[in-house]
Amino acid sequence: MCGIFAYCSFLVEKDRQYICDVLCNGLARLEYRGYDSAGIGIDGDSPEAPILLFKEVGKVAALRKHIKEASASPNQTNGHAASASLANGEDSAEAQDGVSPLKSDANGHANGNSIVVAGGIVKSVDMSKIFLSQTSMAHTRWATHGVPSPLNCHPHVSDPMTEFSLVHNGIITNHKELKVVLEKRGYHFHTDTDTEAVAVLCKYVWDSQPNKRLNFTELIKTVIKELEGSFAFVFKSTHFPDEIVAARRGSPLLIGVKTDRKLKVDFVDVELSSDDRVEDPATGGLLSVPSVAPNGHAPQGPKIRRSQSRAFLSEDGMPQPIEYFVASDASAVIEHTKRVLYLEDDDIAHIAEGELHIHRLRRDDGLSSVRAIEHLEIELAEIMKGQYDHFMQKEIYEQPESVVNTMRGRVNFDTHTVMLGGLKAYLPVIRRCRRLLFVACGTSYHSCIAVRPVFEELTDIPVAVELASDFLDRRTPVFRDDVAIFVSQSGETADTILAMRYCLERGALCLGVVNAVGSTLSRETHSGVHINAGPEIGVASTKAYTSQYVALVMIAVQLSDDSISKTARRQQIIEGLYHIPKQIRSVLEMDKVLQQMAKEMLGKEKSLLIMGRGYQYATCLEGALKIKEVSYMHSEGILAGELKHGPLALVDEHLPVIFIMTKDSLYPKVQSALAQVTARKGRPIIICNEDDNSVSSEFKTFRVPQTVDCLQGLINVIPLQLLSYHLAVMNGVDVDFPRNLAKSVTTE
Ligand code: F6R
Repeated sequence: MCGIFAYCSFLVEKDRQYICDVLCNGLARLEYRGYDSAGIGIDGDSPEAPILLFKEVGKVAALRKHIKEASASPNQTNGHAASASLANGEDSAEAQDGVSPLKSDANGHANGNSIVVAGGIVKSVDMSKIFLSQTSMAHTRWATHGVPSPLNCHPHVSDPMTEFSLVHNGIITNHKELKVVLEKRGYHFHTDTDTEAVAVLCKYVWDSQPNKRLNFTELIKTVIKELEGSFAFVFKSTHFPDEIVAARRGSPLLIGVKTDRKLKVDFVDVELSSDDRVEDPATGGLLSVPSVAPNGHAPQGPKIRRSQSRAFLSEDGMPQPIEYFVASDASAVIEHTKRVLYLEDDDIAHIAEGELHIHRLRRDDGLSSVRAIEHLEIELAEIMKGQYDHFMQKEIYEQPESVVNTMRGRVNFDTHTVMLGGLKAYLPVIRRCRRLLFVACGTSYHSCIAVRPVFEELTDIPVAVELASDFLDRRTPVFRDDVAIFVSQSGETADTILAMRYCLERGALCLGVVNAVGSTLSRETHSGVHINAGPEIGVASTKAYTSQYVALVMIAVQLSDDSISKTARRQQIIEGLYHIPKQIRSVLEMDKVLQQMAKEMLGKEKSLLIMGRGYQYATCLEGALKIKEVSYMHSEGILAGELKHGPLALVDEHLPVIFIMTKDSLYPKVQSALAQVTARKGRPIIICNEDDNSVSSEFKTFRVPQTVDCLQGLINVIPLQLLSYHLAVMNGVDVDFPRNLAKSVTTE
């Protein structure tokens, strides 16, 4: 889990400051994916210092500050700005001539906060230097191996001369074995990361070929074949200046293409090349490298089809100015271009001399041999904070519109019908299935819990709701006549993707309910529904939850439209959906009350229970998750029916308990739970309907509009989202980036 970004410009003059800004802006958009450290690698000034690396612990803002300090230092000579090490108060006298020995260890690896590495030498950083063509890369990290520190921060390098450098999102599970093999061959490691093993492996493969005839793509293919785990990579090498290679398996990666010329094609052909792995005796058979023929020429693979990326050349065959942006997610490229190409697992993209070529790791693996260049529909404004203080706040407030977008063009409020195009062809299969299996994680899992009753009621099909990780741990039996529905905001959650592939292998029909268009889940499922909530940037999921909920209810309604006996119920639900946006808006208007409630709780309360049952069980779980993840206050969602089976022991005069007590058939049962809590001097806060006179005035209440029972959770969750937001702000938490979390959990 991390964000990676790369920028390649060809025949487009850009100065170094511009390149650094592009990288940092790209990283800032990906920061939700991880934010414990950030780094960039840009072209250096000479063969002795071919790449400059800037790294900083903390968020992208801290990295920007360091880059700025490095360029703005007063110690300037001959038009050169001072080095980044000077910015940290290091050896100013030596840096005056523009070259300073870095305070480095024996291998030339720097110690310090922000480092510039190039063969153990720090070159001065001239931000005005112009590049006609360049390649650069950037990374924002969510630590999996090794604490957040400058040393563990990406880009990682193969050696002090930075022969190979790379950024990585994912986990290399066999990194320990690789390190052992490589250490035995005399290679050294300096960080605690799994990624460094890949950088060093690149150098090993390069060193192992006596005549150095492998091209960059072949070399990376050889490296990737040795890796286990998940990854998205961007590689740079001093042996292949102005080229980059990007590759993915299990972690998302896309390439944005920007050119003033009209692209002649909207696809790129995939090039097939040899996947022969020839054991090289020099490696002791532990690692394999492509063979080099005795005459020193590269091995002959099968004929390569000429890539349609040649279309980026002009009519007369002359190269054209072009820029490429490689990123973990489209939000990072949208300010530059809307033309993107999503890479598939085991695609290897090579960008050189303005051309993009895509290769497959293996031949004939059944995947399509073209990659479409798609047009993104999102606008930059959609991913900006605007008038709001935080993305989480903006996204909570967007819900009246985002739920409309989920329904737009799909719900007919006159005929009381739903038409989801992605499901149309599959309706007969779904209706006949043995079981509906919902699989998701976190908030997305809660949306499945929220709609289970309405699915059971409208479809009469047995429903199972599974946490993806547990589903996989149990190796749950899955059958061909199961229909599995995978719900995910990002479409990139590793556990959910693995669960989907598990179900695909067993022949189940797999459907996705996904927000991120072009994500792995939306591409690999048989079909599905996009929830169209718009980009969700805040780490805590809010508008995706309500849109998932609405989309799932819509699926249940569509599935039941062959049942005459359920017509009245469908009509009631669709009418309920019609009023939801304005009802959500009316709850948002009471934000001040929740702000005050948060103020009263602040500091005093260590823990909070949220109780309800039936349709509201999901609201309790989701409310408690929001509170703990953004405010760091302990909170539990409890099924009121379970109260007397244990949780009641927690209740005393110190424990606040929020009761979700809106009107439905289970209302009397929730009232009994309330009585049990008040009898133990518990301190309830009650979320009830506006016109509910039976709730005693002695209790603190928050009143919400009433809707159809199965939709009431859409309204009831809003005050809990707002409460968690205010608690977090008042606690001084960086709301959009709660500690230890990341938006898209692309590791198991
Ligand atoms: C909580 C939250 C997470 C995600 C979970 C699944 O606010 O955001 O619990 O819901 O990591 O993510 P997606 O929906 O992207 O699969």
